[in-house]
Amino acid sequence: MKTGKVATVIGAATACAVAAVVVQRYVKKSRRWGRVMAILKELEEKCATPMWKLRQVADAMTVEMHAGLASEGGSKLKMLITYVDNLPTGNEEGLFYALDLGGTNFRVLRVQLGGKDGGIVSQDFTEVSIPPNLMVGTSDELFDYIAAELAKFVAQEDQKFQVPPGGRRELGFTFSFPVMQTSITSGNLIKWTKGFNIDDAVGKDVVAALTEAIQRQGLDMRVTALVNDTVGTLAGGRYTNKDVIAAVILGTGTNAAYVERAQAIPKWHGTLPKTGEMVINMEWGNFRSSHLPLTEYDSSLDAESLNPGEQIFEKIISGMYLGEIVRRVLCKMAEEALIFGDTVPSKLKVPFILRTPDMSAMHHDSSADLSVVGSKLKSILEIPGTPLEVRKVVVELCNIIATRGARLSAAGIFGILKKLGKDTISDVEGQKNVIAMDGGLYEHYSEYSQCLENTLHELVGEDVSKSVVIEHSNDGSGIGAALLAASHSQYLEG
Ligand code: BGC
Repeated sequence: MKTGKVATVIGAATACAVAAVVVQRYVKKSRRWGRVMAILKELEEKCATPMWKLRQVADAMTVEMHAGLASEGGSKLKMLITYVDNLPTGNEEGLFYALDLGGTNFRVLRVQLGGKDGGIVSQDFTEVSIPPNLMVGTSDELFDYIAAELAKFVAQEDQKFQVPPGGRRELGFTFSFPVMQTSITSGNLIKWTKGFNIDDAVGKDVVAALTEAIQRQGLDMRVTALVNDTVGTLAGGRYTNKDVIAAVILGTGTNAAYVERAQAIPKWHGTLPKTGEMVINMEWGNFRSSHLPLTEYDSSLDAESLNPGEQIFEKIISGMYLGEIVRRVLCKMAEEALIFGDTVPSKLKVPFILRTPDMSAMHHDSSADLSVVGSKLKSILEIPGTPLEVRKVVVELCNIIATRGARLSAAGIFGILKKLGKDTISDVEGQKNVIAMDGGLYEHYSEYSQCLENTLHELVGEDVSKSVVIEHSNDGSGIGAALLAASHSQYLEG
């Protein structure tokens, strides 16, 4: 064979081999990609929340509300009696403190209330983060830490705040965990949620624990109201808007409270409140129903959580968990479809490394090359140089998980409206039913809050939607607790 021909043959063979490798890679890549798409599609189907399903969820919520009100332990919904039977009127007056404990930070605030038409004359607050070891330590350690910060804050009280002559400082305590209250100033912790796990506090009176810690600080202050954050938000909302009928928190955890007719609470055996009303803390985070669209990722998250089998609604709609669900799906895509290359990035295996605020930032990325997604994947999960197609999958994933959460929250609210018979009233006479909302998830994840509001409008329908108003009550829970401390104030009563 002539040299030229040999070269041609060798050249052709090499080209064939190269082509074969390219084709192989292509086939492998497209198989992997096919698997990525299959995982995504399956997730989308399992998380689907068509209107008919949301209506089933709302109906189940209404049924469980009735059951929880009928008897203690009658439902997964605790429907806790709060002993708040009158909400702020605007006449509250004096200096009041509030302590707001419910997540990784706690807030301490003071307000000077000006009485009728005076409103909030001055206010001041500080926010302190809780060292993670105290969230799983002992009750004394946690409460001593909080009381010490409270004492520091009191020591900085400005002269514009006035304790009434002969009065003591009074405190509203917002404690955002399930508590079985025995009065407005006492209640036993039922269980921890949101990553707290302090065994020796369960079953104990949280006001007694806080009061003892306050005394250990040598501080002269008494707790005059114990409230959940939903109840605080309801009270804070009512102070500025008399049409507020319920409050919902969508933050690290989630929950709702609403005003119930005392007659409609069969398990209430006390004297009927003069107002005929009672605020109920639903603890809806613990809601569960066969109608909830759950996936394998939810099951594994639940099984590996600090509170398996509990807070199922919370685990699919609230801020503590949304990012973690996304991480779990990405993990599966990395393991089974090699979405990030031949090995699974080690950071991706770390539980809770992908926080919901980062998920939200990726979801809201509007740049053409999804640069925010790229940089989050790099900085958090140490996955550099992700191709655009992969970034698009990540955004879609965030969308599926956030949409499911937001639509289910809307169904929950619709369930409350149904229980109150407010799901059919149109605004003929201008009547409004206002839901006070708060929490970081609601406040900062706008795709989520927008989707929630659209879904609620769709559920109640065009006419009724004019009378249902969602109002952001910014940090209302602390102020609300101070207001309730004021309305239950010892010196005012005295
Ligand atoms: C708690 C509720 C609280 C909610 C929002 C849930 O985990 O059980 O008591 O209201 O989080 O903070």
